[in-house]
Amino acid sequence: MKTLIKGGEVISATGASPADVLIEDDKILALLSPETSLGIDADTVIDATGKYVIPGGVDVHTHMELPFGGTTASDDFENGTRAAAWGGTTTIVDFAVQNEGESVREKLDLWFAKAEGRCAIDYGFHMILGGVDEVALKEMDTLVAEGITSFKLFMAYPGVLYSDDGKILRAMQQAAGNGAMIMMHAENGIAIDVLAEQAVNRGETAPIYHGIVRRAELEEEATHRAIQLAKVGACPLYIVHLSASGALEQVAAARDRGANVFAETCPQYLYLNLEDHLGAPGFLGAGYVCSTPLRTKHEHHHQDLWKGLRTNDLSVVSTDHCPFCMKEQKELGLEDFRAIPNGIGTVEHRMDLLYQGVAQGEISLPRWVELCSTTPARMFGMYPRKGVIAPGSDADVVIYDPNHKWTISVENHHMNMDYSAYEGIEVSGHVDTVLSRGRVIIDNNQYLGRAGDGEYIRRGLSQYLI
Ligand code: URP
Ligand code: ZN
Ligand code: ZN
Repeated sequence: MKTLIKGGEVISATGASPADVLIEDDKILALLSPETSLGIDADTVIDATGKYVIPGGVDVHTHMELPFGGTTASDDFENGTRAAAWGGTTTIVDFAVQNEGESVREKLDLWFAKAEGRCAIDYGFHMILGGVDEVALKEMDTLVAEGITSFKLFMAYPGVLYSDDGKILRAMQQAAGNGAMIMMHAENGIAIDVLAEQAVNRGETAPIYHGIVRRAELEEEATHRAIQLAKVGACPLYIVHLSASGALEQVAAARDRGANVFAETCPQYLYLNLEDHLGAPGFLGAGYVCSTPLRTKHEHHHQDLWKGLRTNDLSVVSTDHCPFCMKEQKELGLEDFRAIPNGIGTVEHRMDLLYQGVAQGEISLPRWVELCSTTPARMFGMYPRKGVIAPGSDADVVIYDPNHKWTISVENHHMNMDYSAYEGIEVSGHVDTVLSRGRVIIDNNQYLGRAGDGEYIRRGLSQYLI
């Protein structure tokens, strides 16, 4: 079965050039000049004239059906991965969760069961360690051998997923031995809980106080501490959902010293802010409660994050997709912001939102692909199977129309949310066609795939460390 994508401009992390893409079954067979492709007899020909042809998006931070704060993230693996496909993402890496006293093995198997036969696109797993103990440490080695090569720890959420510095160091030492990447939610949760309690005691219960008490200094402090612990533990470190200038400075300084320290940011930290969104009238701000929180527009966090994306101090853009509906879910915190489930749904909009950075001159076209596809695949051991259009790679391909303008709305998104955090944002650029391992799953504003098309991806070690 041969498919030929003709007439487009193929974008990679290193450049852009006109080329036709020949696919055989589920793999890229060749990139051809238009003259050479004339002689090809393909079963299907897709016209990409005037469009970009890019490797499918790789979103390495999603939380489908995550149990959180007495409820569960509203996208399950079926709906969430379908929404991802609509937005040009063809691989996700989600998080299986182990809490204190639980078996890592059993919890991972539970997450395998949740995803099995449900996903529209390929998927892998990181493991969240909420209870670092002797058994969990040993299980880390087993998981690495099975393709779970990254572990997330929390300096936030005391009493829930939080690990103290000793536990963090133990997990880091284990990762140093087995080659895994430690991913860190870097916020000083102990100090945040003090400020949150004081705020509520003063009657400051509205959503905006979620952002006010989760101070940028406490993200910066935790980021610094995580970096120092990783130095002592001699392991690589990846800071997740970085949102603040000070935290970015810590990452940049570590990288300047040559440390194996990496960081991601997410579209919400580039486009949304504390005052206009978390501080929206009434209870609307609840829709913007996530951690790390949205930052103030009166400092230079947004500009600094864009700069970090250019300088590579931020190497990846993921979504931290963790949607909750306003009704019955975010509403749990009507009386107290601490009870609002944390998370925003973005999986469908990451490629488009980052493309606005290209349209507005913040990043180049190849950098867009590098941040959204190529580096996440390399960072988490999936390259060159994922993240690039090259012979032998999986035929995960997006045909992107840079001239199509549209507006994001709850009325047209496919995520299971009763609001959109990006309502009204005008987008230049549109995901026209999506191929997942050679099969067209989105075309002509139609979803053509099936639940269960997506396969589990057994990941290798991070290719940034070898
Ligand atoms: O608000 C967020 N980020 N929710 C998901 C859990 C996490 O910390 O990543
Ligand atoms: Zn987190
Ligand atoms: Zn997350």
